[in-house]
Amino acid sequence: MRFAQRDREVLQEIQHTGQFIAGEPVRFFEADFAGYCGTQYCVSCGNGLDALTIILRADKVLGNLPENARILVPAHTYIATFLSIVEAGMQPVPVDVNELLLTSDVIESQLANIDAIVAVDLYGKLVDDDVYAFAKANNLPIYTDTAQSHGAVTAMGQKSGSRGRASAFSFYPTKNLGAMGDAGAITCNDPELANMARKIASYGRSSRQVNDVKGMNSRMDTLQAAFLNNRLPFLDNDNKKRFKIAETYIAQIDNELVKLPSDSFIRHNAIHVFPVFVEDRNGFVKFLENHGIQTNCHYEIPPHKQASFAEFNHLNFPQTEDLHRTEVSLPCHPLLEDHDVQEIINAINAYS
Ligand SMILES: Cc1ncc(COP(=O)(O)O)c(C=O)c1O
Repeated sequence: MRFAQRDREVLQEIQHTGQFIAGEPVRFFEADFAGYCGTQYCVSCGNGLDALTIILRADKVLGNLPENARILVPAHTYIATFLSIVEAGMQPVPVDVNELLLTSDVIESQLANIDAIVAVDLYGKLVDDDVYAFAKANNLPIYTDTAQSHGAVTAMGQKSGSRGRASAFSFYPTKNLGAMGDAGAITCNDPELANMARKIASYGRSSRQVNDVKGMNSRMDTLQAAFLNNRLPFLDNDNKKRFKIAETYIAQIDNELVKLPSDSFIRHNAIHVFPVFVEDRNGFVKFLENHGIQTNCHYEIPPHKQASFAEFNHLNFPQTEDLHRTEVSLPCHPLLEDHDVQEIINAINAYS
């Protein structure tokens, strides 16, 4: 374990101080992560779902979103994005993606039906600048689900987390920046939004005994913050290694049964997931398993086809459904050695 020694040290320090909640490492992490993302504020919380829910609730309290606001959301996402909207007392308005992500032409077709947008940097790939420009031109608040894009940077040098009105991060252990349990954070530049988010994450209280809005309890543990402080300095280098693996996959996977993402996929991408698309997904996964290669899937059933969102089950989003039917996530962990990557490529090229 790369961080084992340093993790043991912080665990001992925190045991010694007894500050398991709201200890110094939490404030250090918030300051460092805001600096890293290039935002003025970072408000830590319990997980990524809470981060997005809190943003939406905060903007409702501030009067920037109406009661029951209609929030445009890409159908190709993890179900947490949909759930955050419902948790905030709002209505998801799902739309299909183009290739992998939300695009402005799709938003344009829904302009009359929406109050705001949640864009999702899925697989680590940043949503196009164009989408933010379109939202701005149409006075639509746009929030970003950055749960998968820690450290990604646009062509203009803008970091993930600094685009749109606010962003929601998850530090679930398998994320590019992952804790050793659940943790999340909101980044933004608006002091009112940051203050309200902090208040909502802490029971809605303005001081110890005074609660002026209905809030929730969503805290990043001191311990998780300390673990994240140990890992943040490695994020850029880890993302470089993930990028190199993705470049090698794109250059060397050569099998007509295995469709690669387009070349532009790795541009402005922190490569959280490297997806390939295979008609016989089960057969392919089994084949790789027999070669000792573990894969994953993001995801098998889109939110609008889940039983929990029965109200959307009648909708059809062909691009999203195709992705969910065929997607297989290849290993892209930064600790993979060159020879591991080569073995994976050789196995994929031998699949028939
Ligand atoms: C796109 C996306 N949004 C939101 C979340 C929710 O994050 P968490 O699991 O920390 O609540 C995740 C996490 O898996 C995610 O991948």
